[in-house]
Amino acid sequence: MPDASAGGDWTRVCDADEVAPGQIKAVEVGNLRVMLANVDGDLYALEDRCSHQDFPLSAGFLEGRQVECVFHGARFDLETGKATCLPAVRGVRTFEVQVDGGDVLLRGA
Ligand code: FES
Repeated sequence: MPDASAGGDWTRVCDADEVAPGQIKAVEVGNLRVMLANVDGDLYALEDRCSHQDFPLSAGFLEGRQVECVFHGARFDLETGKATCLPAVRGVRTFEVQVDGGDVLLRGA
């Protein structure tokens, strides 16, 4: 599971079938944009903003359990949010995510 340290209430962000295996989906929680990714049925949630130059990571693509930013090719670990490839050196926030009764729920945003 992604970082659950922030705690707080769960927020419904979309239907589970809107983010099928192999897909990325952008959602909004308040003023925050979050990128959801489904890798082989495992859901991940990261802040939808590349730490290099703020490009939306949801426009990128999945490489295993990483997302690659289409702007300059930085990569981030979906589970930890850590940057794994230059030019990004800082990670991005991660959020706890779960599926409940067909709903995708997010916590920590
Ligand atoms: S904005 Fe993402 S790699 Fe530059």
